[in-house]
Amino acid sequence: GHNNLNAKLVLLGDMGAGKSSLVLRFVKGQFLEFQESTIGAAFFSQTLAVNDATVKFEIWDTAGQERYHSLAPMYYRGAAAAIIVYDITSTDSFSRAKKWVQELQKQGNPNMVVALAGNKADLEDKRKVTAEEAQLYAEENGLFFKETSAKTAANVNDIFYEIGRLLLHV
Ligand code: GTP
Ligand code: MG
Repeated sequence: GHNNLNAKLVLLGDMGAGKSSLVLRFVKGQFLEFQESTIGAAFFSQTLAVNDATVKFEIWDTAGQERYHSLAPMYYRGAAAAIIVYDITSTDSFSRAKKWVQELQKQGNPNMVVALAGNKADLEDKRKVTAEEAQLYAEENGLFFKETSAKTAANVNDIFYEIGRLLLHV
């Protein structure tokens, strides 16, 4: 087809928020209860059909540990899209997500499609961040928002699909 796109995508967010788990779910359809913390960053690619087009995502899964923060610009520079991930059971991870939004607003590509993912939505009984406050924050900052679960797969394909749609303008 004529409407094929390669899109560099970066995942950012606090350590333990579930960035690698979201990627593993999207790329391999798997989930690990004991996913290892990422060192530096990891690369994956996955092609997704969006209407009549295909988007080949070139995914950089960054490490959330603070000592790797200075590496992040190498991965978000030139990225067409970002998913900023927090854990709905952690207010600290939501604060960290807001810091990433600010950093991308200052230093990122101004046309970047930015999604906010409230992950671990399966842990409703441990929830600390409401969907309403995250949705409001997303609207105020021009992001699109979904709660996801890498464990149950809820909304995982959907968030990549929505990014693909926004990148293709379809
Ligand atoms: P860093 O690589 O250190 O930045 O962490 P990360 O953001 O990549 O988190 P990771 O995917 O390693 O997940 C951390 C832990 O949370 C792992 O034990 C996962 O199994 C668990 N986890 C990730 N996503 C979910 C989810 O949606 N639900 C539940 N219940 N646990 C999850
Ligand atoms: Mg990781």
